[in-house]
Amino acid sequence: MSTVLGIDVGTSGTKIVAIGENGNIIASVTKTYELISPKPGWAQQNPQDWKKAVFEGIKEITSKLPKGDVCSIGLTGQMHGSVFLDEGGNVLYPAILWCDQRTAKQCEEITKKVGEKELIEMVSNPALTGFTAPKILWLREEEPEVYKKVKHVLLPKDYIRYELTGEFASDVADSSGTLLFDVKNRKWHEELLSILEIPIEWLPKTYEGPEVTGTIKADIAKELGLSSETLVIAGGGDQAAGGVGCGVVKPGIVSASLGTSGVVFAFSETVHTDPEGRVHTFCHSVPGAWHVMGVMLSAGGSLQWFRNKLCSEEVALSQKTGVDPYVYITASAEKVPPGSAGLIFLPYLTGERTPHKDPYARGAFIGLSLMHGKAEMARAILEGVAFGMRDSVEIMKGMGIPITQIRISGGGARSPLWRQIMADVCNVPIVTINIDEGPAFGAGLLASIAAGMFSSLTEACETVIREIDQTNPIPQNVEEYEFWYQEFKSAYRTLAPAYKKIGKKLGL
Ligand code: XUL
Repeated sequence: MSTVLGIDVGTSGTKIVAIGENGNIIASVTKTYELISPKPGWAQQNPQDWKKAVFEGIKEITSKLPKGDVCSIGLTGQMHGSVFLDEGGNVLYPAILWCDQRTAKQCEEITKKVGEKELIEMVSNPALTGFTAPKILWLREEEPEVYKKVKHVLLPKDYIRYELTGEFASDVADSSGTLLFDVKNRKWHEELLSILEIPIEWLPKTYEGPEVTGTIKADIAKELGLSSETLVIAGGGDQAAGGVGCGVVKPGIVSASLGTSGVVFAFSETVHTDPEGRVHTFCHSVPGAWHVMGVMLSAGGSLQWFRNKLCSEEVALSQKTGVDPYVYITASAEKVPPGSAGLIFLPYLTGERTPHKDPYARGAFIGLSLMHGKAEMARAILEGVAFGMRDSVEIMKGMGIPITQIRISGGGARSPLWRQIMADVCNVPIVTINIDEGPAFGAGLLASIAAGMFSSLTEACETVIREIDQTNPIPQNVEEYEFWYQEFKSAYRTLAPAYKKIGKKLGL
């Protein structure tokens, strides 16, 4: 037995990587599924679709490995989602996802009941629409018949753990994003649970990231080509596991991921909280450590929207040539100078968390004129997302977190143009590393500790992760972007009241 698996139950699909001794990747598979949005601002998925993707993916991977070769599995996944189960462990309702905005009212209720400052004091974070607690309250208010049957509430990857092992368990990093976790003391917050009248028995037992939570059920092990002795370790939310996978396991290293969401992530040895709650403070998957992160809801998601809705020509061309459509889109954006000829994009397609905490915010192109076309729009999107990432960088600098370079990952990191824009907008060197497998790889590294491959996460990261490329800021572009960044910030401030009125009119 010499292989570990890292499984990332993501938003667009599940990715599974198999890691061999010495941390080398020997196989990788991705299975996709749908995101369902039945109403504006709603985002949900069917947990059975995750299960199907995970099971098919594991079978595909184990068919390529010697029989019984997998000794441990690390789980990670999209954070904050709510999986409601009945007494028998059956799914009662679609999982409400991290980017869903239906709970604005419940967030206001929680904040009013507990107090804004008091809430941050208790769980280190403010009430945000994507977090799990307001979703539980939403179900209680809007679907009382379903709510009556609830006996367990799980996060997405922990539902998969339940299906694999039969255990109700989670880890401290992912649990931090529920708004029900005492982040300082790394346990469920009993007082807050009782104020919100949520039974603690509904919540799983929590573990540190590399700890073992169980083994695979015998019938499932047989079906998936695994040994029933395969260990399933706690793992972490996708951001904490992604941090591990980028080597952010000690002070001084900051990472940024440009996936559907955009995240700036920093290691912390102590609980470091922004008094305004604009960045999140969660437990890290590194035992005894924390992390601070700023989250944009539509980073790569903004470019994906542009590709899906406005770039049918590029998509058709890519089907003929086999070249990624984003290569065509970014090639046209590259011809436009910094500042996108006066076009500013606000990347708030699904509301925004950092820094605005605003479920009503929406996307906007500002300054659109007859001369602008798809190329300017594409560049404005890349720049608008970089401006949003800079908002997090600025808050962290203000909290005293040193940022001398940013390790970048996620689909967006593959674009040299986007990396240059990030370096110029944030005025920080952007570094890429040798591994591009994201949170799944981090989950695999967490599992490698239980497998005895490495003695610590620091040793694992030092052995397998290397920096391979650095993009430095171009001083002239840094100066140019300063003007556009200030206008980007002021555009949101101007539009915020209108966003709220429109959101209320649409029943959000
Ligand atoms: C983190 C967050 C997102 C999801 C995406 O707080 O909401 O990054 O975890 O997968």
